[in-house]
Amino acid sequence: MKTVTLSTLRACKQAGDPFSCLTAYDATFARVASEAGIEVLLVGDSLGMVLQGHPSTLPVTLDEIRYHTRCVARSKGTSLLMADLPFMSNATTERLLTDAGELMRAGAEIIKVEGEAWMAEGIRELTRRGVPVCAHLGLTPQTVYQLGGYKVQGRDAQQAQRILEDARTLVEAGASMVLLECVPASLGREVSEALEVPVIGIGAGPDTDGQILVMHDVLGISQGRTPRFVKDFMAEADTIAAAFRRYHEDVKARRFPAQEHCF
Ligand code: KIV
Repeated sequence: MKTVTLSTLRACKQAGDPFSCLTAYDATFARVASEAGIEVLLVGDSLGMVLQGHPSTLPVTLDEIRYHTRCVARSKGTSLLMADLPFMSNATTERLLTDAGELMRAGAEIIKVEGEAWMAEGIRELTRRGVPVCAHLGLTPQTVYQLGGYKVQGRDAQQAQRILEDARTLVEAGASMVLLECVPASLGREVSEALEVPVIGIGAGPDTDGQILVMHDVLGISQGRTPRFVKDFMAEADTIAAAFRRYHEDVKARRFPAQEHCF
């Protein structure tokens, strides 16, 4: 397979060809996922929950994301490597630039950052310096205590309009991609249609340009309540490689997410 770049993902969007993304935190799983055809690997701050056992992503540090980014970078194969800026990396523009620089040095090819329209200035400064950015909107897990839990966002018309406007603002500021988490499928479609850049969805319906899941959810080994948007692909596979391949193929064929995974 050819190396995946942002141009590849833009071409996928234009062709109406959905792409698959998966979290990865170490070299072995990164290799297996890349060999399965997964286009984008995310070193997500979800590692705080699935690797470290915390109840949220807030305790994760830049050093930890940097360590796991280095591990994944060594065997990411042809996949594009995205890394998450942890909680409070967006506290100031200066810190944002320094932290993003560290993750790019560790091997990231695009940085993901949570935040609404107010992130525009930071995204503009990152983009000016050659750092591609994916803007994470909708349910932003770093604000879970403010949101009062992991709840679907954008359910009412006003909230939905705000998410759409925030997405437009951040793309105008330079964001190369948008990630939408836990929003109604109708909003996932509207945002994807409105933006020129690829939109990745998790719990955002079948019409976003790409889909992402946490690796442990795909393997059916996450603890606690299973969110509606999750599918255990291991239930239909004999090996981890086969589960990843099935996830990738189901995204490509628009079999996943199905109606029962949507809000
Ligand atoms: O940290 C993460 O794994 C994420 C995904 C849930 C999109 O942000």
